[in-house]
Amino acid sequence: MAPTLSIPPLTKDLSRILIDADTISRRVDELAHKIDEKYKDLDEPLILVGVLKGSFIFMADLSRKLTIKHIVDFIAISSYGEKGDKRGEVRLLMDTRENLADHHVLIVEDILDSGNTLSYLIKTFKSRGVKSIETAVFLDKPERHEIDVPVEYVGFEIPDVWVVGYGLDYKEQYRTLPYIAEMYPKK
Ligand code: XMP
Ligand code: MG
Repeated sequence: MAPTLSIPPLTKDLSRILIDADTISRRVDELAHKIDEKYKDLDEPLILVGVLKGSFIFMADLSRKLTIKHIVDFIAISSYGEKGDKRGEVRLLMDTRENLADHHVLIVEDILDSGNTLSYLIKTFKSRGVKSIETAVFLDKPERHEIDVPVEYVGFEIPDVWVVGYGLDYKEQYRTLPYIAEMYPKK
């Protein structure tokens, strides 16, 4: 019997679906293929470092579509807007389990906004002596960039609106929606 697909409906906070689940799945396939191609001749495992919490679903899907040898790891950071941190300030709350020195690393992030988070992480990991570092972001808001950050793999470019679903949240809600939805602007 075919499984019944149930798509959770939009709630009063969400205005529209920006990217549906099938489109997400096809794009993650493409990104995984590009990453496979880039690292296919590597003798050692690539270390994927996901930025918690927003990247956890993208990481789960992307890592399962890779055919190259890889290790999944995570970090947690706190950025502006959380616990009263200043704009542009990024703090490491939880480090990786793996020692990244002398390894090839791919940062896996949910969304590129100002660029502060990725710029901080790239600088931090380089100072630890990684062999190489690249970045995969599921979403990119080009209008919001404040710092130039090299990003090798981008899922989708989106306008400057608050989005939820596929790992992204509003006050910890909506992370498990299978699509990316746009929120109504908060008054
Ligand atoms: P920066 O500015 O450092 O920020 O590039 C990246 C972080 O900002 C958060 N962010 C969002 N989270 N919906 C979310 O759920 C959004 O539309 C959004 N825009 C930015 C996110 O934590 C990301 O890692
Ligand atoms: Mg994040």
